[in-house]
Order: sequence, then structure tokens, then C-alpha cells
Amino acid sequence: MVAILIYQLVYMSRACGSSAQDMCQHILPVSRRNNSLLDVTGVLVCTPQHFVQALEGPDAVVDLLFDKIVKDARHQDIRIIKQRQLPHRQFGAWAMAHDDRTSNAMLSKATDALLADTDAAALL
Ligand SMILES: Cc1cc2nc3c(=O)[nH]c(=O)nc-3n(C[C@H](O)[C@H](O)[C@H](O)COP(=O)(O)O)c2cc1C
Repeated sequence: MVAILIYQLVYMSRACGSSAQDMCQHILPVSRRNNSLLDVTGVLVCTPQHFVQALEGPDAVVDLLFDKIVKDARHQDIRIIKQRQLPHRQFGAWAMAHDDRTSNAMLSKATDALLADTDAAALL
């Protein structure tokens, strides 16, 4: 049997202008609409000054979406912190989950595990 792997890309970036948390309210509905059409899932964490986002789905689709997100003027200093192939999606239940660190303990646990060995852990 051939295993079908899922590509996951995780990056962190710095918000430009207003706070990342304020911008999240605008970014999330658009992301959820687009990502469900693209078969992309993931999580977006917004701290006052930073975004951390995981995107998972077919390789080419995630790469194209990331190219678009990188060009978005609402953030800068974009740094990829993880790129890997996984047997399962880690955020498969969400077109784009929003981990605000308060309302969903299970989601925050999944984000903690994802970022445990990266620089982004310090932002949480
Ligand atoms: C931190 C950050 C994360 C984003 N994540 C996504 C995303 O997961 N999916 C998405 O479609 N757009 C995302 N965007 C928005 C895109 O950059 C772009 O504005 C949007 O996809 C345009 O959608 P439209 O072509 O439907 O107008 C993100 C933007 C930022 C700043």
C-alpha cells in the first residue's frame, strides 16, 4: 500500500502596523473560505506582534498559498520554521483554526507540541 503524505509548512512573521490579534479577525474568515476550497487545513496563532501559522495540504497548493501570504503587506520578517511530510494532518478538523491561547485547550496543546522545538515557542 502506498502511504499518502501530507505536506506541512510552519512559519512565523512580524505584524506590520496594527496588532496581529486585531488583524486576525479579518484574516480568519477569508482564510477559512479559501482554504476549504483548496483542501488546506492549519492553525493561525496571533500574539500582539507576531503570527505563527501552520499550513497543511497538497505540496503544490500549500506552496502557492504560502507565496500569496508572503506578499501580504500586513506582515514582514517571514521565517519558515518547519517543512515536512506527515502521515496525517495535525489540524485536520480546521480550515484554519485560531489558537488564541484561551478558548480551546486541546488546540493550544496541539500548537504547543507543534512549536515545542522551534524559536516560535518563545512567542506563545
Ligand atoms: C498572517 C497571515 C496569514 C494568512 N493566511 C491565509 C490563509 O491561510 N489562507 C488564505 O487564503 N489567505 C491567508 N491570508 C491572506 C492572504 O494574504 C490574502 O490576503 C488572501 O488570501 C486574499 O484572498 P482573496 O484572493 O480571496 O481576496 C493570510 C494573511 C496573513 C497576513
